[in-house]
Amino acid sequence: MYTLNENYLKLPGSYLFSGIAKKVAAYQKAHPDADIIRLGIGDVTQPLCKAVIDELHKAVDEMASADTFKGYAPDLGYEFLRHAMAENDYRNNGCDIADDEIFISDGAKSDSANIQEIFGQDVKLAVCDPVYPVYVDSNVMAGRCGDYDEKTGMWSNVIYMPCTAENGFAPELPTETPDLIYLCFPNNPTGEVITRDELQKWVDYANKVGAIIIYDAAYEAYITDPSIPHSIYECKGARTCAIELRSFSKNAGFTGLRLGATIIPHDIVVAKTAIGKENVELHSLWARRHGTKYNGAPYIVQRAGLACYSEEGKAQIKEQVATYMKNAKYIKNGLKEAGYTVYGGENSPYVWLKTPDNMTSWEFFDMLLEKANVVGTPGSGFGPSGEHYFRLTAFGSYENSVRAIERIKNM
Ligand code: MLT
Repeated sequence: MYTLNENYLKLPGSYLFSGIAKKVAAYQKAHPDADIIRLGIGDVTQPLCKAVIDELHKAVDEMASADTFKGYAPDLGYEFLRHAMAENDYRNNGCDIADDEIFISDGAKSDSANIQEIFGQDVKLAVCDPVYPVYVDSNVMAGRCGDYDEKTGMWSNVIYMPCTAENGFAPELPTETPDLIYLCFPNNPTGEVITRDELQKWVDYANKVGAIIIYDAAYEAYITDPSIPHSIYECKGARTCAIELRSFSKNAGFTGLRLGATIIPHDIVVAKTAIGKENVELHSLWARRHGTKYNGAPYIVQRAGLACYSEEGKAQIKEQVATYMKNAKYIKNGLKEAGYTVYGGENSPYVWLKTPDNMTSWEFFDMLLEKANVVGTPGSGFGPSGEHYFRLTAFGSYENSVRAIERIKNM
């Protein structure tokens, strides 16, 4: 009789956004006339921009002809996309990243879940609390997090770094030394950011203690303040301690196309491993994994990604981001007018509010759904320090953002 990976059974409930979707579907079934506005999951609503659509059409036509048809993509992604990313996202911004340090993938969610595979079973992780659930859940599945305590909402073998209003939503260096540090800025879910100087402290710390930072930069396109870094490689020394995750979902609306990248500099090297191998690059392990387990993002999607770096593409994407940021501003100001305490939403598409009257996040979720027919995300779903907070996204339409705020004001 086979056995199971019982680590899966340790996970409480379902994946946060699947659970919410089920709850909302049940409500809609019971109230078929309810006009529900969805500001829960951070999924985009605007169509792909013209430059991307045009490039997709061209690439699809190439697939119809034997001389331009493409089969399997190269292991690490097409050179045209890796080069465009390295130039535009890194080298033009003063970050020293080579084309071959970029691994093209089907998005930051899977990369952030899979990256833990190249580390030892005994590595200790540190996460912000609240946190994007994928970082912890994927490590639970791998058997690294110990046991879950229902009372505290914490795993016994994870270092939690609270990010609350009290510390400006910026994690403090942990007292216990971690091996892997997950950071996401602009942050999901709080919508808050840290400055370049603050991030530099993390890089210095990681280099000092020999930890790796996994830096999720999926929301960097929303940064408006020049003191906020778009990439961890803007910090000195990051090439020896940081892996960065990039996504085309939030900046260019690829949630349905799927495209992302992981950046691993060649300078992250383990001098001697437990089995005596010398000078092992993390890059080589991820390359091995990529080659073995993955056949690459589709050619047509990688071409669509390339279009994001054309002059028209850049301008059109900028406009899309600005539209969502207009929503964020409207939501944030509207909530403030309604008397809420609100954070985020200025360098990020996420607005993070304090629940009124000390309601729990789930109580507020239910009230919002029932009284305003608006869906958001309960802060406690992201970790214990998210309790009494609630997330709304700016990824809806402007009309729906306005309608949602009207309803919340009238609630
Ligand atoms: C979120 O709502 O936190 C994100 O959309 C989830 C994701 O990007 O996978």
